[in-house]
Amino acid sequence: MSIISDWTDDKAKAFGRDNLVFQHGLHQRPMFDDEGLARLLDQYPRDQLGVFTMGEDPKAWTTWRKGAAGNLTGDQLLEAAQAGRIWLNLRKTNDFVPDYAALCDEIFAEKEARVPGLKTFKRDLGMLISSANAQVFYHLDVPLVSLWQIRGRKKVWVYPVADPYVGELALEKIVLKETAEQFAFDPAWDAGAEAYDLTPGTMVTWQQNAPHRIENGPMLNVSISIEFMTPPALMRANVIYANGVLRRRLGARPRVQSGFGPTALGKLAVARGAKALNLQTPHVRHLPVTFGLDAQRPGVLVEGAGDGIRS
Ligand SMILES: [Fe+2]
Repeated sequence: MSIISDWTDDKAKAFGRDNLVFQHGLHQRPMFDDEGLARLLDQYPRDQLGVFTMGEDPKAWTTWRKGAAGNLTGDQLLEAAQAGRIWLNLRKTNDFVPDYAALCDEIFAEKEARVPGLKTFKRDLGMLISSANAQVFYHLDVPLVSLWQIRGRKKVWVYPVADPYVGELALEKIVLKETAEQFAFDPAWDAGAEAYDLTPGTMVTWQQNAPHRIENGPMLNVSISIEFMTPPALMRANVIYANGVLRRRLGARPRVQSGFGPTALGKLAVARGAKALNLQTPHVRHLPVTFGLDAQRPGVLVEGAGDGIRS
């Protein structure tokens, strides 16, 4: 029994290249009920758990703040997500929790069986447990992404990989890690986006590096975010990286090539060489921890980096 119920030859051919919507059956699995999620939150390494909150204006991406879960139990963390305005991000759950490693293998085995020639690696299955009306600001990711809705409803806007949504310079800055993945957003751009209403049983995947943003409906949301690379996707990331290096080192004005032509292969060598020589210094933004959670008051953000709050 396949996880995705509406594979077609056209979708299989377009997978990894185009924006696509699929229907899936993962939301019916008991591992995602309250009990399952609370046990997941107990099992997942606490020092890896991302706890965030954010403001309400979709332009105000600097209101994205990092918090600390402290020693709340899984049940209490789930209660906090149900009552408050937080975003729990469990990156690489497949690396830490055996049931999720098995789920990740199952999902990718199906994708590789259905999509002729597909090879995937750098697989990252992340669980997202997030509050009513929470949002993720406009940003893009370097790998390919698929977003699987399990519980609740959310809206996802996916924007073209083009000016003015994202220019080549902005893309290079993100791939070179000179800047955060979040960047300036103009609400007028929604007119040029594809918008998807995700309900339990919907999955959406989009073109590599497409900017996107998310708004939750008025209920707890549970989603799976899967990031992965394919050989062409890794090549593209390396070409963008090399372009960034060439522009900065040589004042060149390079363009993004797709495929594996000689220019792209030359750039792959530049990217590998630059990374090996540490020519580009990454400026990864480490958000300070500015709030904690209180087991006695679910959903309340305890402000300030006082005792017991560590980054
Ligand atoms: Fe993303």
